[in-house]
Amino acid sequence: MSDVLRIERQGPIEIWTITRPKALNALNAAVIDALTEAAIAADADADLRAIVLTGEGKAFVAGADIAAMQSLTPAEAGAFAAKGQAMGERFERLGVPVIAAVNGFALGGGCELAMSCDIVIAGARAKFGQPEVNLGVIPGFGGTQRLARRVGATKALDLCLTGRFVGAEEAVSMGLAARRVEGDVVEEALAIARTIAAKGPVAVSYAKRAIHENADADLSTGLAAERNLFALCFATSDQSEGMTAFLEKRAAEFTGA
Ligand code: CAA
Repeated sequence: MSDVLRIERQGPIEIWTITRPKALNALNAAVIDALTEAAIAADADADLRAIVLTGEGKAFVAGADIAAMQSLTPAEAGAFAAKGQAMGERFERLGVPVIAAVNGFALGGGCELAMSCDIVIAGARAKFGQPEVNLGVIPGFGGTQRLARRVGATKALDLCLTGRFVGAEEAVSMGLAARRVEGDVVEEALAIARTIAAKGPVAVSYAKRAIHENADADLSTGLAAERNLFALCFATSDQSEGMTAFLEKRAAEFTGA
C-alpha cells in the first residue's frame, strides 16, 4: 500500500488517486514509482477493464516536484526525465484504457501525465498548462512532443512558450481534453470506464494499440497495422459473441477471450 497513491476497486475498474495534496500531488520519484508499479500490476490483471486516474484535493498534478528537481545535475535531470517519460510510455502501452479525471491543476508533468492517458476529462476547476519556462526549463515528461501531437504545433508553442494556463473549455476546444464536465469529474470518468468495461476487452485494447502505436506512422503503415489487428479480432471468441449477439438482438457477453 503506497502513501502517495490510493487504489480502489469497483468491479473491473480501478480508481487511482494520487495522494500528495500538500504538494498539489507533484510528481517526485515516489509518486512516479508508485504509478509505474500500479501500471505493472494492472498489466498482469486479467479482470481489469479500465483505470480512472485523479488527484486528491485541488490538483490533478501540479507538475514534477520542483523541490526535488532544484539541485539536479544535468545527468540527474536527464535520468529524471527518462523515468517520467518511461511512466508515460507504460501508460500508453497498458492493455486497458486509462481515463484522466482532471479535477484541478494539471500543469507541467501533470499535463504530461494526463496526455499519457487515453481519455482526458476536464472538470470545471481543471487548469492545464506547461509552465516550465517560468522555472527556466522546458517540459521533460513528453510535453513538447505529446502536446504538439495532440493539439498541433501552433497551440503547443503558445502553451509551452508562454506558460499560460487553459481552463476546461479551452482545453476541449483545442483537443487537449476530450470532454468537459460540470459535475463530479471522477463520477463522469467512472461512467466512461463502465461503458468501456462492457465492450469487448480485446477489441478495446487493440483499438488503443492501433492508435498509439501508429500515431507517428505514415498512413499506409498505420492502415496495415489496423488491418492486422482487425484480423486478429477474428481469432477471439468475443468477435463471434459480439456479432452473434447483434444478430440475435441480445446483449453480448464478452469474456476477453
Ligand atoms: N512541485 C513541488 N511543490 C509544489 C508544486 C510542484 N510542481 N506545485 C505546488 N507545490 C507546492 C507549493 O510549493 C506549496 O507548498 P507549501 O505549502 O509547502 O508552500 C503547495 O504545493 C501549495 O501550492 P501553492 O501555495 O503555490 O498553491 P496556489 O494555489 O497558490 O498555486 C499553483 C497553485 C498555481 C499550481 C502553484 O502551486 C504553481 O505554480 N505550482 C507550480 C506549477 C509548475 O510550475 N509546474 C511545472 C513543474 S516543472 C515540470 O513539471 C517539469 C517536467 O515537465 C518534468
